[in-house]
Amino acid sequence: MLDKIKELISEAEQYKAESLQDLEDFRIKHLSKKGSLAQLFEDFKVISNDKKKEVGQALNELKQAIQSKIDILKDELGTSAESSSISDLTLSAESLPLGSRHPISIVRNEILEIFSRLGFTVSEGPEIEDDWHVFTSLNFPPEHPARDMQDTFFIEKNPDILLRTHTSSIQVRVMEHTKPPIRTVSPGRVFRNEAISARAHCIFHQVEGLYIDENVSFADLKQTLLYFAKEMFGESTQIRLRPSYFPFTEPSAEMDVSCALCGGKGCNVCKYTGWLEVLGCGMVDPAVLENNNIDSKKYTGFAFGMGIERLAMLKFQIRDLRLYFENDARFLRQFSGAI
Ligand code: DAH
Repeated sequence: MLDKIKELISEAEQYKAESLQDLEDFRIKHLSKKGSLAQLFEDFKVISNDKKKEVGQALNELKQAIQSKIDILKDELGTSAESSSISDLTLSAESLPLGSRHPISIVRNEILEIFSRLGFTVSEGPEIEDDWHVFTSLNFPPEHPARDMQDTFFIEKNPDILLRTHTSSIQVRVMEHTKPPIRTVSPGRVFRNEAISARAHCIFHQVEGLYIDENVSFADLKQTLLYFAKEMFGESTQIRLRPSYFPFTEPSAEMDVSCALCGGKGCNVCKYTGWLEVLGCGMVDPAVLENNNIDSKKYTGFAFGMGIERLAMLKFQIRDLRLYFENDARFLRQFSGAI
């Protein structure tokens, strides 16, 4: 038996493989369940005790010789296989799998970028807010329905601490610590106690805009929003402003853009009106400026607020709000081409 083992050791030491397949055959021949080594260990069980030590050592030596031969040859054959493939420099590079941005992030970034070209900075604020920043300083009368439990999520039983229902609260935070001129856009997540459906969600995103300086007029607001609409939806886009009401702006308006899908002729997306509502806006109510220690005789300003989900729906023709929150990779992958 000892002779047989020694023979196999020298065979292993001299072994050369032409290919990885050869090497695999070699491995099977010696190390598989029915290989030479397994057979020898089988025989080892029945040899006399006085030979066990010597034969055992020889067997271990054989096992090591085979294993180290396999390791060395595998390295050699492996690297030569690799180097032969990269030596062809004309091969095209392997493409890396890329992730994609969420459509909400794509549209938020685009909005912020458009306003940054007009000199607007970006500001943010807390999602957990107090009554003053979300309602009182924005001129909401105490009995206003938006304060109702149906709309607002309150934190525990304290009616003063709540989840912000709109990003207009960031206006207040900016006015608190910045002297005019102020020109800022504020993106953020907002919360309203609404039943979830294709058209409503209890969590969504807004971008708020605020511009305060001397002699800011409604014409400035209109021109700013026209520029935004053309950048966002295309050069031929038109806007219209309809009178509306918000407690913190006077006068207030809602802005529609001409429907990019049908060019204003009427289709099922614009419900055959040719127009799509995209945001609320107005001149900052002097009472709001005074609430925040800004001299309303010297300064005027405009503000606007828009829902990011709504703009993304129009831009990408998404028909169900819930898709934004489900993290379905099949939905998200569709945006991998967008920036
Ligand atoms: N905060 C309003 C909302 O959530 C949107 C809005 C309307 C913001 C008019 C404004 C504005 O700044 O001037 O519905």
